[in-house]
This record gives sequence, C-alpha cells and structure tokens, in this order.
Amino acid sequence: MDGAATCFNPQRKIPLLSSILLLLGIHLFHGNHTSTNLTLLSDGIQYYFSSNNSTDELHSLRRQSESQRSPACHPHFQVASPPGEPLTWSSSSKFKRLYFYHARKAGGTSLSYYFEKVARHHGLEFASMEYLGSEVPGSYDETTFYVTHLRHPVERSLSHFKYEGRWDCKQLIHNYTLYNASEANANKLETWNGTAGHHGTASCRKKFRLVTCAVNCYTQWFSSLSCPAWDIPIVTQAEKARDVLLRFNLIVILEKLKDPAYVAAVENFTGVPGLTMTRSAWCEPESHTANRMHPLMVKNETLGHLTELNGVDIDLYNNISSCLDNGSYDFPKWDDDRFAKNESSRVSYQEFSQWKIQQRLKKAKEKNS
Ligand SMILES: *[C@@H]1O[C@H](CO)[C@@H](O)[C@H](O)[C@H]1NC(C)=O
Ligand SMILES: *[C@@H]1O[C@H](CO)[C@@H](O)[C@H](O)[C@H]1NC(C)=O
Ligand SMILES: *[C@@H]1O[C@H](CO)[C@@H](O)[C@H](O)[C@H]1NC(C)=O
Ligand SMILES: *[C@@H]1O[C@H](CO)[C@@H](O)[C@H](O)[C@H]1NC(C)=O
Ligand SMILES: *[C@@H]1O[C@H](CO)[C@@H](O)[C@H](O)[C@H]1NC(C)=O
Ligand SMILES: *[C@@H]1O[C@H](CO)[C@@H](O)[C@H](O)[C@H]1NC(C)=O
Ligand SMILES: *[C@@H]1O[C@H](CO)[C@@H](O)[C@H](O)[C@H]1NC(C)=O
Ligand SMILES: *[C@@H]1O[C@H](CO)[C@@H](O)[C@H](O)[C@H]1NC(C)=O
Ligand SMILES: *[C@@H]1O[C@H](CO)[C@@H](O)[C@H](O)[C@H]1NC(C)=O
Ligand SMILES: *[C@@H]1O[C@H](CO)[C@@H](O)[C@H](O)[C@H]1NC(C)=O
Ligand SMILES: *[C@@H]1O[C@H](CO)[C@@H](O)[C@H](O)[C@H]1NC(C)=O
Ligand SMILES: *[C@@H]1O[C@H](CO)[C@@H](O)[C@H](O)[C@H]1NC(C)=O
Repeated sequence: MDGAATCFNPQRKIPLLSSILLLLGIHLFHGNHTSTNLTLLSDGIQYYFSSNNSTDELHSLRRQSESQRSPACHPHFQVASPPGEPLTWSSSSKFKRLYFYHARKAGGTSLSYYFEKVARHHGLEFASMEYLGSEVPGSYDETTFYVTHLRHPVERSLSHFKYEGRWDCKQLIHNYTLYNASEANANKLETWNGTAGHHGTASCRKKFRLVTCAVNCYTQWFSSLSCPAWDIPIVTQAEKARDVLLRFNLIVILEKLKDPAYVAAVENFTGVPGLTMTRSAWCEPESHTANRMHPLMVKNETLGHLTELNGVDIDLYNNISSCLDNGSYDFPKWDDDRFAKNESSRVSYQEFSQWKIQQRLKKAKEKNS
C-alpha cells in the first residue's frame, strides 16, 4: 500500500488555467464591437482572449453543444478532444487520471473523498480542484476521466451562506470563547447577493479565484470568465460553463442521491460502493452548531431575490440535470478496458480510509522532520 503514496503528485492539483480562453478567443468571437485584449500569465503559458458581444458568434457556440447529451444522464468513458478543436469524442487512449472538480457547498467534500477512493481503487492518479476554475476536459496532457457535481443553485447558495457567509469561520473555530455567534454579530442574508458573497467579485489578480460565492457560482467556476476587468456578459459565461460541463464524463446531481436507484446506477458506473457516505468539511461542526442555536429565518422576499439573482445558474442547472427527472438511469457499467490502471498503486476500497489516515500521518511526519 505504501507505493500508492508516491504515485500521487500534489502539483497535479493545479489545473491549466482556462485553456477555455483560447477556445473562446480563437473560435467563438469574430464579431465587431468593442473588443478587449487580455493576456493572462499562468504556469508560464500565455492566453489571449478578446471579448466582444457578437450575438452571431454566441449562436454558433450554442449550436456546437446543442447536440451534446448531458453527462448527468449519459455518463460515458470517452475522451474529449482538446479545447480549441471542434468537440469530438474518442476511445483511442486509456484514462490514467481522475479529475474531480469540487464545487463549493454542493456535497463536494464527501464526493471528493468518494472519487479519490474510486481513483485509488482503480490505480488512477487523482486530482481535485476547489476555489479556482475547473480544468477544461481535454486540456490535460494525460488522458483524464472528468467528474463533477451540481446542486440546486439556491440551495447551494443558502448552504454556503450558513457555512461561512453568516459568521466568519475562523472566528467560530479559533475565537469561540470571545466571539459567541449570535444574530447580533451575524451577517445578513439580505446582503448575500454578490457573485462573491456579501460583496465583490471573483479575485483575478493572477488567476481567476472564487472562494465564497452567492450568485451564479457554477457559471463562474466552470467558465472562469467572471473577472470584472474582462466585462464578459453573464450569458456568455453561462454558455461557456455549459460547454465545459458537457465535456465531463460524469456529473453527479446532489439531490438525486436520495434515490437509491440513482445511487446504484452511479456506483455501477464507477465500480465502487459508498457514494452516499458523508464527510464533514473544515468549519462544518462549528457553523452547524451556530446555525442550530440561531436558526436562519429566510424571508420569502429574500429567497425570491436570491432566486432571481441566480437565474442564469438555475437555467444551467436545469439544462444539465432535468433529463434525470423521469427517474430512469440507464448508465453503463464500469468499463475496465478503458483505464490504464497502475496495478502497483491500487488500494482496495475497503482499505481506503485506513490508507488515507496513513498518508496523512506520513505527510505530517515529513513536515515535522
Ligand atoms: C505506478 O505506481 C508506482 C507506485 O506508486 C509508481 O512508482 C510508478 O511510477 C507508477 N507507474 C506509472 C506507469 O505511472
Ligand atoms: C467593425 O467596426 C468598425 C469600427 O466600429 C466599423 O467601421 C466596421 O464597419 C465594422 N465592421 C463590421 C464587419 O461590422
Ligand atoms: C471581436 O473579436 C474578434 C477576435 O478578436 C475580432 O476579429 C472582431 O473584429 C471583434 N469584433 C468586434 C465587434 O469587435
Ligand atoms: C457587453 O455587453 C454588456 C451588456 O450587454 C455590456 O454591459 C458590456 O459593457 C459589453 N462588453 C463589451 C466588452 O463590449
Ligand atoms: C491584442 O493582442 C494581439 C496578440 O497579442 C495583438 O497583436 C494586438 O495588437 C492586441 N490588440 C489590442 C487592441 O491590444
Ligand atoms: C475575538 O472575538 C472578539 C469578540 O468579537 C473580538 O473583539 C476579537 O477581536 C476577536 N479576536 C480575534 C483574534 O479575532
Ligand atoms: C453567548 O450568547 C448567549 C446569548 O446569545 C449567552 O447566553 C451566553 O452567555 C454567551 N456566552 C458567552 C461566553 O458570552
Ligand atoms: C445587495 O445588497 C446590498 C445591501 O443590502 C444592496 O445595497 C444592493 O443593492 C444589493 N444588490 C443586489 C444586486 O441585490
Ligand atoms: C448494478 O449492477 C448490479 C450487478 O450487476 C445489477 O444487478 C443492478 O441491476 C445494477 N443496478 C443499476 C441501477 O444499474
Ligand atoms: C413568496 O414570493 C413569491 C415570489 O418571490 C410569491 O410568488 C409568493 O406568493 C410569496 N409567498 C408568500 C407566502 O408570500
Ligand atoms: C439546454 O440548452 C441548450 C442551449 O441553449 C438547448 O439547446 C437545449 O435544448 C437545452 N436542454 C434542456 C434539456 O434544457
Ligand atoms: C428518460 O429520459 C432519458 C433521457 O432523456 C431517456 O433516454 C429515457 O428513455 C427516458 N426514460 C423513460 C422511461 O421515459
């Protein structure tokens, strides 16, 4: 089991920033209005992006992905062509790596644990990302199996507010004797209305980065296009986000985990049980306690406003997930032949939690020595 540790390269966790910009810049915009030029420096690679508001080109973007079936209902074992090329699928190379995009406050801590277990069990490299935008499927140099998840945007936003928007997590954890969470020192849901939470926008100094988010968060995380200086219309961002999502192999819909038939279908697809086992996130015990002591009263009007603000994301969520509504989950079974498994790094799923603990101890030891 020890061998598995060396196989995991944490550097792999850093995705190529939005190769999507290339895709957009080169393929999708040939209109003629105001155009902005951007050069982003990331991982030593330059990306050029020119933005304008040509509706013609937006239509062509839509056409490109219209025929694509949602990976929420039709998960598969195909590899997407690199972004920048027209989207095609192939089975000519085997997957070596599993990438999990962790959308915040949508069950990602538990799902990340589960999909790491899936990766280790099958002898695949595991990479996950939170905070920064998603890697674009097809952009990585090693053949990668892409997984992510969605939860209803308003549920997600409320959950995010309760987790770290209502009170400051650091205060709840490190200053609990003095801080004493109460309605008096709580932030209000009424001001939880910016794309980055109570105010502001994604931080974009070096890279797109979005840690707290109240409004249209999937659109921002999957498109990586919400940096204010770029001034890209939200609908353009959402089109892009949809394009990226349609390149995934599997999208887990959180609400569906209540349906045992869905859970069985996903577990058959991954070949690993335990999809619904939950894990607690960093500040979860503290924020749960505070919210239990001071239950959040959501005014109808506030909920209506939050729903309105999240309209673009709600459309995106419905677009990707509504095909599951009829309760039929015709998912393929795990296809062993499609994966280039590293036999010497495989961890049985029964032993995964023990293996995880060992890794943590090993890391701590290395840090201290
Ligand atoms: C397979 O895993 C072992 C042990 O982690 C590692 O040393 C080796 O480089 C891996 N092989 C490949 C082809 O990645
Ligand atoms: C592009 O914009 C320029 C300047 O506004 C204008 O002169 C030109 O006619 C436009 N071209 C097209 C194809 O719309
Ligand atoms: C939009 O951007 C493309 C690519 O840079 C450029 O060719 C075109 O002239 C621009 N259109 C407008 C309307 O600025
Ligand atoms: C694009 O359109 C939006 C709204 O239609 C506008 O606010 C924005 O300034 C435009 N951006 C550019 C770069 O023209
Ligand atoms: C946009 O970027 C291209 C590529 O670097 C450059 O040739 C062009 O001059 C830039 N345009 C503007 C308006 O800055
Ligand atoms: C701890 O909480 C108290 C009461 O809110 C505050 O005055 C103090 O600055 C906090 N301490 C730290 C280190 O943040
Ligand atoms: C915290 O606030 C509650 C009322 O909300 C109060 O009953 C309690 O004594 C306070 N605790 C501390 C340590 O100040
Ligand atoms: C967000 O809330 C603030 C404070 O209540 C308010 O001033 C602002 O207009 C609101 N913005 C939106 C988009 O609702
Ligand atoms: C999962 O696989 C088992 C064993 O092959 C099969 O009996 C079951 O019907 C499958 N369930 C679903 C939901 O695909
Ligand atoms: C709550 O708000 C929605 C629209 O935001 C409205 O349709 C509904 O009637 C309201 N319900 C109550 C009980 O006020
Ligand atoms: C999703 O959006 C695309 C593009 O707007 C549209 O063509 C398609 O019909 C939508 N699908 C669903 C299920 O809403
Ligand atoms: C449910 O929807 C899926 C995807 O749209 C479709 O393939 C399937 O045939 C439908 N099943 C039933 C029982 O209607």
